[in-house]
Amino acid sequence: MSQHRDEPLTQRKVTTNSLRTMKEEGQCIAALTAYDYTMAQLLDRAGVDVLLVGDSVSTVMQGLETTVTVTLDHMLYHSTLVRRGVERALVVGDLPFMTYQVNPDEALRNAGRMVKEAGVEAVKLEGGRVVAETVRRIVDVGIPVMGHLGLTPQSIHKFGTYQVRARDPEEAAVLKRDALLLQDAGAFALVLEKVPAELAREVTETLEIPVIGIGAGPHCDGQILVSHDMLGICTRFNPRFVRRYAQMAEDMQDAFERYVADVRAREFPTMDESY
Ligand code: KIV
Repeated sequence: MSQHRDEPLTQRKVTTNSLRTMKEEGQCIAALTAYDYTMAQLLDRAGVDVLLVGDSVSTVMQGLETTVTVTLDHMLYHSTLVRRGVERALVVGDLPFMTYQVNPDEALRNAGRMVKEAGVEAVKLEGGRVVAETVRRIVDVGIPVMGHLGLTPQSIHKFGTYQVRARDPEEAAVLKRDALLLQDAGAFALVLEKVPAELAREVTETLEIPVIGIGAGPHCDGQILVSHDMLGICTRFNPRFVRRYAQMAEDMQDAFERYVADVRAREFPTMDESY
């Protein structure tokens, strides 16, 4: 899609620069997750600015309890499918647990595979000070990096719970420090997950890069949800920050049951549906 300066921002291909402009102009960024071609096309056509191929693929597509076991091959596969369905949105791919923590060289190699083999335009990784050097290394070669602080699901075995993070002043101070370190390292945006709204407001006001919240209140520069949660396809996970825009699990179940009934009753197909 070509870019023309007189087109409204929302029509143009989204880049890391346009997200920064959106922050500067006070336009809120709409982000959602995607894992496959068909859904990516629908999300893109709806005007979603950022499509995250999240490692939440583990819970919503693979039927697993955590994101910890997702592999780079899984992410390469799903990112390839999503990229194929997108014209406008910025496609960001999650780097899975242990593909970027061992050392910056390995992280760079894996980020490079996400860009070269799957076609993502940026990668996301979790953590603060401990990954800052890695973020700088990846950004320096030309791959945009999105940070992720607050509830970082890849550390679930350390936290032991998916409860709200950084309620106490000490953890909040570390988070604020880490947010600045990620910005200084060159991150183009930051996801803040499940932290108090006032803390998210402070971080959003302090940082120059866009802050995209999930369960982080209304003051962020943008919002992200897991698509399957907001569509009501996955209903086992029901935190208060998920607004359900559809009840698709019920609609799909009903459609599947009616199909089974029609087949059993030999009411599908009719001769009109045959050759
Ligand atoms: O994996 C994911 O879907 C995410 C979002 C929840 C931000 O990281």
